[in-house]
Amino acid sequence: MVKITETCFRDAHQSLMATRFRTEDMLPILEKMDQMGYWSFEMWGGATFDSALRFLKENPWDRIREFKKRVKNTHLQMLLRGQNLVGYRHYSDDILERFIKKAYDLGIDVFRIFDALNDVRNMRKSIEIAKQCGAIIQGCVNYTISPVHTMDSFVKVGLELRELGVDIICIKDMAGLIFPVTAAELVSRLKEEVKLPVCLHSHCSTGMAPTSYYAAALYDVDHLDCAISPMSQGTSQPTTESIVEMLKETDNPTQIKDDYFPELISYFNHIRDEYSNYWIHLAERVDVRALIYQVPGGMFSNLVSQLEKQSSMDKFDDVLSEIPRVREELGWVPLVTPTSQIVGTQATMNVLMGERYKVIIKEVKDLCRGLYGRTPAPIDEKIKQLAIGDEQPIQVRPADLISPEYEKLKKELKDITREEEDILSYALFPKPAMDYFEFRKDPIQQKQKQEQDARGFVIPQQHPERKFIVTVDGDSYEVGVTESGQVIYDAYEET
Ligand code: CO
Repeated sequence: MVKITETCFRDAHQSLMATRFRTEDMLPILEKMDQMGYWSFEMWGGATFDSALRFLKENPWDRIREFKKRVKNTHLQMLLRGQNLVGYRHYSDDILERFIKKAYDLGIDVFRIFDALNDVRNMRKSIEIAKQCGAIIQGCVNYTISPVHTMDSFVKVGLELRELGVDIICIKDMAGLIFPVTAAELVSRLKEEVKLPVCLHSHCSTGMAPTSYYAAALYDVDHLDCAISPMSQGTSQPTTESIVEMLKETDNPTQIKDDYFPELISYFNHIRDEYSNYWIHLAERVDVRALIYQVPGGMFSNLVSQLEKQSSMDKFDDVLSEIPRVREELGWVPLVTPTSQIVGTQATMNVLMGERYKVIIKEVKDLCRGLYGRTPAPIDEKIKQLAIGDEQPIQVRPADLISPEYEKLKKELKDITREEEDILSYALFPKPAMDYFEFRKDPIQQKQKQEQDARGFVIPQQHPERKFIVTVDGDSYEVGVTESGQVIYDAYEET
């Protein structure tokens, strides 16, 4: 039996509508979905935390509370970036401990944990804490293609994760790069050699994921991540209904009761309509360029936006070709948050400056210093010399160098809030958290936000051809018009 994780509450809307799904719109369907035999709902973590504070003006912790009230049979699952938690830098161990315990106490019982570099030292502490809580832990092997990422290297990460006590190995294929034959082979080898249940997580970006899921199922994969049809395909996951149907005739069917599908489909069709302003239509297209340049879907739109800000879209193809070079020089890092942003930005600088590494971004220097962990292959010596000269990279786990942060932040916030969860929100995203605390006690801002939502403002990640400023009700907005004539607003937020 394959166990199905439904991703519509996290990865699917992160991939297709820039993480804008509001908690109140998730709740009405939960009790029904809880009866369907899903193994888990992936509904927290990743970019949802940042987006809740920054754009939705919600307390991110409330989403777990509300789910927990309604979901009794299905695990609640989150995505955790190891020592980065749900942020973009490494946090101290005391923040990590409080964050994971809080999430567990509120109702998260499956933690999917990954590190961008597959450096398990950055996952050790979070696995340890989640284990102490009694949660189920999926340890991730980030899938990518490079000369140093062999089948053996993935199995080795799997074995290291088993050492740390994870319960399930998750093959995390964030750019949809895994071929069906590779999926079959990797699932078999992980099951045989690591001897733990295996989950396959992929995206339809290159169009191969449904077939790879089928191949994995034939080789006894234990878990698959799917999204209900209106929220599936493109840079999102394969379609739940299709996977359930196609596996029926195999030795490895799912446990999903499909008689509820029609109701679910109409519910989520309605959600699509409601959020149509946020929908990123480009993300729904199959784009095999990811196979050539190894660029995940989300990174594509960020690149376009960076280049447009500099009026340099004519350099787009040059930047695309520069990415694999930079990636090789930086030790073949997998492209996933935050390394995708680091490689993408440096490649853009290399092209725009007209001279490679004339300007080196701080994050590349930190990568050379070892502050993100161990790269899969050594960093090119020439680049390292340019970036940090003779400075010696650290050899220890990066977070060993970060002193405890919690008590200091607690003092800093004592006149604003004394809630542990607020202090944790602030630890991860100081400015958005502070803005949210202001918003929470300000009825005028709340009313403005309601009106803004009704007008469908703040639409992200589209690519305007022309831009201008308009004023509506006394507020100024940056407005863009796309190639197809669609008008969009405040176009440049990235999640
Ligand atoms: Co994903």
